Amino acid sequence: MFYLFSSPEAIANHLSQRLLQIMQEKPDAVLGLATGSTMEPVYAHLVELVRLQKPDLSGITTFNLDEYIGLPPSHPQSYNYYMHQHLFNPLGLNEEQINLPCGVCENQEQECQEYSERIKAAGGLDFQLLGIGTNGHIGFNEPYTPFDSLTHVIELSENTRLDNGRFFDNQDEVPTHAITMGIKDIMDAKEVVLVATGEHKAQVMADLFNSPVDEFMPASALKQHGNFCVYLDEAAAGLLPANVLKRI
Ligand code: F6R
Repeated sequence: MFYLFSSPEAIANHLSQRLLQIMQEKPDAVLGLATGSTMEPVYAHLVELVRLQKPDLSGITTFNLDEYIGLPPSHPQSYNYYMHQHLFNPLGLNEEQINLPCGVCENQEQECQEYSERIKAAGGLDFQLLGIGTNGHIGFNEPYTPFDSLTHVIELSENTRLDNGRFFDNQDEVPTHAITMGIKDIMDAKEVVLVATGEHKAQVMADLFNSPVDEFMPASALKQHGNFCVYLDEAAAGLLPANVLKRI
């Protein structure tokens, strides 16, 4: 389950090739995507691979995990903005192929319900890419989110707001709420890869490894997924027993 790579670049290289392979084998693949610092090298590698190999991506559909409530797509810290900057624009995807939860819709309840339904209507997620918060969140499913949750609005924990404060000019600007795919939406994906890089993720990796399957640790739900693995760099793997790591 835990695959060890020499560096974040090595993970990005491997994962971008896997993503390209999925899109080539299944031209109408449905991809679940994440944002955050961890994904930046992955998307940079994927953009470069696509530039070199020029696959036909016109049948691909994407669904992002989450969005901040209150940030419009034009806001530089919105996940909509991030995705267009790092991936969608460089890949030349058109808006019909892209799905992101709406952080500024008036009827959030309806938006949530429709988002999970849209994933199902698209045929379900063939692949879900995940990062992880230092408190074990996946998407923005904070500790104690029910494992049977679908897309919902969540109040961000103080821990998450502090972690993500680095992207904003000051801490008060970090949104208090987000809309996120639920844990059930993620668990329904056919294949899930969670990426953790850097020393600041070492503790949560140890926590995940030691945790029972319990809503206290959202990522622990994935231990029950039949096709799930974690990609780690040396720093994030620092607190894991060597014998559970498979070196790539
Ligand atoms: C982002 C998301 C979050 C991040 C997590 C780690 O779409 O779903 O779960 O993956 O907060 O963020 P980084 O990579 O910035 O450490």
